[in-house]
Amino acid sequence: MTQAEQLQVNLKGRDLLELDDYTTEEIQYLLDLAIELKRKQKNGEVYQPLKGKTIGLIFEKSSTRTRVSFEVGAFQLGAHALFLSKNDIQLGRGEIISDTAQVLSRYLDGIMIRTFGHHNVEDLAKYASVPVINGLSDLAHPCQVLADYQTILEQKGKLKGLKLAYIGDGNNMAHSLMIGGAKLGVHVSIASPEGYEPDAEVVKQSREIAKATGAEIVVTHSPQEAVKDADAIYTDVWASMGFEEEQKIREAAFKDYQVDEELVKHAKSDYLFMHCLPAHRGEEVSAGVIDGKNSVIFDQAENRLHAQKALMAALMG
Ligand code: CP
Ligand code: NVA
Repeated sequence: MTQAEQLQVNLKGRDLLELDDYTTEEIQYLLDLAIELKRKQKNGEVYQPLKGKTIGLIFEKSSTRTRVSFEVGAFQLGAHALFLSKNDIQLGRGEIISDTAQVLSRYLDGIMIRTFGHHNVEDLAKYASVPVINGLSDLAHPCQVLADYQTILEQKGKLKGLKLAYIGDGNNMAHSLMIGGAKLGVHVSIASPEGYEPDAEVVKQSREIAKATGAEIVVTHSPQEAVKDADAIYTDVWASMGFEEEQKIREAAFKDYQVDEELVKHAKSDYLFMHCLPAHRGEEVSAGVIDGKNSVIFDQAENRLHAQKALMAALMG
């Protein structure tokens, strides 16, 4: 058996709650597969390993990219995707997650869930007998980060030894970028205002993982320090979904954390500007930077499709 075939066997039937579920080799395999599936699609090659299968997409929060890329990706792989808004299923009326998981497992070949507390994803995975994919929780956003590292790999030709600076809220994006960077040997520097640092447990876990790959994980309050000589600068909204009522307080706390023309001068001249989107121009990023020549935001958004196709093919195939 080749290494790729072995990895394929390893991934079949697994869940993806966060990237720490996977080895460095398994993540690299998924990134390579995503690039291969992108090439196939651009060449007009039909590839339908999931013919006759169905994935359910549970959404407790809004979405543009995640919903559309999972639905389109499933269709392109020959599968059917069911959009299950919390408001339309019994989960929204109090049916418990464990019953929901067991019922859905009798119909579906995979479940994606976008939710608030990460424990909801864990509970779903615990009780479902089909693969469960985290489509964003308050703690983690691994699907986005697969697409992000795919984008950096495509743009820079490598990942190991590069530096990614993340400026802003120590949220789900910061966490998954740290874990993914640690797994892939990418140095990650996070600059957040006091009180908005990433979760200390996730930082500790990332540093533990990074010992094997040589990645350096830095947490600071200085955006300038984080951005210094960076190959990629990443930011995200100041108030994530579920935290909207804190918008005003956060605007004050984050006012010195905008990625603007002045800050990016500290990075390498060929730095990539990255954002998971949706973005707020004039808050976490200036319009000049997000719409400027270093911005790869639409490549990231596109790669959600290819990365999740790789994921669905690997887990549900
Ligand atoms: N980046 C991302 O997950 O976007 P959506 O919220 O539109 O799915
Ligand atoms: N941190 C953001 C990411 C959106 C894709 C949120 O959770 O709202």
